[in-house]
Amino acid sequence: MTRIAFAALMITMTVSGCSRKEVNMPERYSIIPKPAELVMAKGSFIIDGKTELTVSPLNDETMLPAVFIAEMIRKSAAVPLPVKEGPEEAKNRIVMVLDTAVSDDTEGYTLSVTAKNIVLKSPSAAGLFRGAQTLRQLLPPQVEAEGGLTAEGAAVVPACHITDAPRFSYRGMHLDVSRHFFTVEEVKRYLDIMALHKFNVFHWHLTDDQGWRIEIKKYPELTAVGSQRKETLIGHGGRPPFVYDGTPHGGFYTQDQAREIVKYAADRFITVIPEIEMPGHAVAAIASYPWLSCTGKELEVQTRWGVFDDVFCAGRDTVFAFLEDVLTEVTGIFPSEYIHIGGDECPKVRWENCPACQKRIKEEGLKDEHELQSWFITRMEKYLSSHGKKIIGWDEILEGGLAPGATVMSWRGIKGGIEAAKMEHDVIMTPTTHMYLDYYQGEPHGEPLAIGGYLPLERVYSFEPLPDELSPEEQEYILGLQGNVWTEYISTMSHLEYMAFPRAFAVAETGWTPEMKKDFEEFLARLEILKERYDLIGINYFKGDYRNTRERTQ
Ligand code: ACM
Ligand code: ZN
Repeated sequence: MTRIAFAALMITMTVSGCSRKEVNMPERYSIIPKPAELVMAKGSFIIDGKTELTVSPLNDETMLPAVFIAEMIRKSAAVPLPVKEGPEEAKNRIVMVLDTAVSDDTEGYTLSVTAKNIVLKSPSAAGLFRGAQTLRQLLPPQVEAEGGLTAEGAAVVPACHITDAPRFSYRGMHLDVSRHFFTVEEVKRYLDIMALHKFNVFHWHLTDDQGWRIEIKKYPELTAVGSQRKETLIGHGGRPPFVYDGTPHGGFYTQDQAREIVKYAADRFITVIPEIEMPGHAVAAIASYPWLSCTGKELEVQTRWGVFDDVFCAGRDTVFAFLEDVLTEVTGIFPSEYIHIGGDECPKVRWENCPACQKRIKEEGLKDEHELQSWFITRMEKYLSSHGKKIIGWDEILEGGLAPGATVMSWRGIKGGIEAAKMEHDVIMTPTTHMYLDYYQGEPHGEPLAIGGYLPLERVYSFEPLPDELSPEEQEYILGLQGNVWTEYISTMSHLEYMAFPRAFAVAETGWTPEMKKDFEEFLARLEILKERYDLIGINYFKGDYRNTRERTQ
């Protein structure tokens, strides 16, 4: 008997004889994000050689959660677990059923585990997939390892009844692939880890000063030139003299590769939102085509971090033709409802000194360069909305007037989000104070170099996306939240995982779990149990102090 089978037997033995109320074994039910309602029960379901997985109706979409869980179990438990069509809640079955009655939320689901069978129901395939991730976390961690559950009786699922649905419809993770490039396989791994914790949006930051990472067929120099930088700054480089590593860095995704990512994400019911930065953070584009800037001067792809004066010229129509061409190709790759157009950190100094930009200000009757930025974003919003897309922009898009229909991503605190919600615009909360996972998470000494700050897990967990300043009606505009991972100081997948995890798991719980059900200490207890699973997946998560030691000692 393996250690797991033994543990399973011990659980069954310990639980039998207790009343339902006395059954208090959270280690059997260590699920992140915590389900809205979980009733623990006695006994277990054991997957064996005769267990079948049935789906009703069986179609391309419902196949995805069924095959996901079946393949995982087959690999670890060496059971055939055939996937068949059928709604009958028969014995020794895992049953997945589309059922609109179980939840008002498309991602909601019920999961009932008894000794007889496992029944997972949801109004949608997406909800079945979320429920499948719960089922996955109820299985022993060894389900993550090939051959991990081969002993008889090892593939055991503790009995329970779960009624679950997400608190927010937008639960995102962001990844900056401009500052450092991550391969298709690495992005897929990031999506895999997101899927485990029920994230549903991947915000892919594809362009910035230090690299243009998406193939645009009409403008080949964007990748031929813009995807490569000759070297990278060492350290923070607060002031000259700057020291560089002398090593070229580059990479980009072909359109086929980007489509492959979109499909991989969609198979996990994750939407990919691409970000094409404008009007600022445009140096890589300008290095490729100098006529995109106000000065037309030749520039190199940036090798330092920060905010740079050279931005897209707002006066030249050729720049808008370029951006529209780019976005036409981008919308052809990404089926998401949203396109992120950036909008943050755009210095106005070039526009102030550019005859074309000044002419534009005059002709359009604009007050100043802030209104020119708003005019710029509004023009792009019009273009995208005429192509059936909505825009998201960082909260600077509020300055000089918010484009109609724009969704605001509030990053400089929650102020921008509050302002936008009061203006009846949708909002995604991602304040630096709680959601910037590129900040230090332990005490800075002894940590790998990061951009700065101090954002321990406890603080991430404490974030409440619905501000008290908003009325219940205004709060409806808060779609959800997102963890951001900027990669100036993150150049490897292992370091990326170290920065993102487990903080992203706290983001996942805040996005999913009812506020009333959240409890940091209890989250930590679940996290400890889940670590065995993370170790088997091979996630390089941070293992230091998760508590906010500074605030606790202040
Ligand atoms: C940002 O962090 N500049 C959105
Ligand atoms: Zn200009």
